[in-house]
Amino acid sequence: MTALLAGLVPPGTVAVESFGDTADAFLYPEEEACIARAVDKRRREFTSARVCARAALAQLGIPPAPILPGPRGAPAWPAGVVGSMTHCDGYRAAAVALGRDVCTIGIDAEPAGPLPDGVLEAIALDPERASVSGLSAAVPGVPWDRLLFSAKEAVYKAWFPLTGAWLDFHQARIDIDPAAHTFTATLLVPGPVAGGTRLSGFAGRWLHRDGLVATAIVQRQPID
Ligand SMILES: CC(C)(COP(=O)(O)OP(=O)(O)OC[C@H]1O[C@@H](n2cnc3c(N)ncnc32)[C@H](O)[C@@H]1OP(=O)(O)O)[C@@H](O)C(=O)NCCC(=O)NCCS
Repeated sequence: MTALLAGLVPPGTVAVESFGDTADAFLYPEEEACIARAVDKRRREFTSARVCARAALAQLGIPPAPILPGPRGAPAWPAGVVGSMTHCDGYRAAAVALGRDVCTIGIDAEPAGPLPDGVLEAIALDPERASVSGLSAAVPGVPWDRLLFSAKEAVYKAWFPLTGAWLDFHQARIDIDPAAHTFTATLLVPGPVAGGTRLSGFAGRWLHRDGLVATAIVQRQPID
């Protein structure tokens, strides 16, 4: 398979992905305890994402360590590291960077089918629904509704480590550039402060390939 998220992150950020599971993958006892009562599917995605994460951390020179779910499920990365994980049927990935370079990361992958009935209406702002409709007519073949959803998930994963707070689907507006394979997320609530600068949103990249859509936000540390 060709790189998906691994091709979406900038230099200095390491993304490692997997299109399957390794049977004898290692988990730390603390991680095992987190999924002691989980069904097999959850166990496999949790484990394989951490295999990806440790491989990515190794490329940054960070020794292997447990990556435990923290508040509201956000992964607790080793000190000095920012990162994000995602998993869906047939795909697992993790992306990490040094916190001195990058203030937050959000990645997401989804199966490239249309959203179930009613979900677009629940998650999209009016202009986003109009945009999905226009893109679907102009560029058929891409599940634009699913891509919008994925971008919002990536926004939440980038937002949460900076704020520790919930972000509703209607509190960020996504604008997708179909030609450049990029998107912007405009925060409709006061943004987090990173490196002394208040963020008004995030910029991301997206890809649709091999039955998957993937989105990635890598927010660099503001430069003084
Ligand atoms: C948490 C959430 C984003 C996960 O996304 P998902 O598509 O369901 O699942 P994915 O497989 O892509 O990602 C799961 C991983 O996200 C990470 N994650 C979970 N909660 C997180 C949080 N609060 N912050 C950052 N990352 C989080 C974890 O690493 C998790 O994997 P793990 O449990 O094995 O460690 C989603 O379930 C959710 O709660 N969304 C509602 C909030 C939202 O999206 N708002 C939109 C704002 S515009």
